[in-house]
Amino acid sequence: MKILKIAAVSAVFAAQFTLAQFKQTPLPYAYNALEGSIDAQTMEIHYSKHGAAYASNLNKAIAGTPQEKENLIKILSETSKLSPAVRNNAGGHYNHELFWTILTPEKNTQPSAKLSKAINETFGSMDAFKEKMSKAGADRFGSGWAWLSVDKNGKLFVSSTPNQDNPLMDVVEEKGTPILGIDVWEHAYYLKYQNKRADYLSAIWNVLNWKEVSKRYDAALSKK
Ligand SMILES: [Fe+2]
Repeated sequence: MKILKIAAVSAVFAAQFTLAQFKQTPLPYAYNALEGSIDAQTMEIHYSKHGAAYASNLNKAIAGTPQEKENLIKILSETSKLSPAVRNNAGGHYNHELFWTILTPEKNTQPSAKLSKAINETFGSMDAFKEKMSKAGADRFGSGWAWLSVDKNGKLFVSSTPNQDNPLMDVVEEKGTPILGIDVWEHAYYLKYQNKRADYLSAIWNVLNWKEVSKRYDAALSKK
């Protein structure tokens, strides 16, 4: 009887474990690796508390629903039909997983020649692009994100979304594949920058991982 009970408990545990499909990937650098631009305490709380909560709350929100068997991109594409809890946490999980990768302690990474050309053609220059991106983040009222994305025709565009929405969601106006996202929630910068969001937006370029953004650009184009 006892053995049966243990087996039953193990099966439930295994099922829960299997169904908890979304989890954080390890942060690809130390919490203090971006010091100077993003402080260690902000990174630690952001990754280990906020980031972790989006993943675990997403798993809870989809438990027992068809979304449990879907991938994240599919879930994002049908948010209009899903609960606010799924929308917020699926977006939160996707957005943060992208955000960690587009930052790096490596100095002066550069966009690929192809991405550089597309940025120049679309926005006029790299400086004009950075200005547009920073403005999208600065103008976002309350919490949200600034994005560089690739649209269905393979063209780059800058946009901003509120809360944890992103350009992959069917509910947003400007749709595309995000290749760079900047978190402008206060939890991303307030300990170091307080109310000076513009200073955070200007410092983030010092730790931007252009190699990763270029890789994501190629991947987005290859899906067209
Ligand atoms: Fe965040």
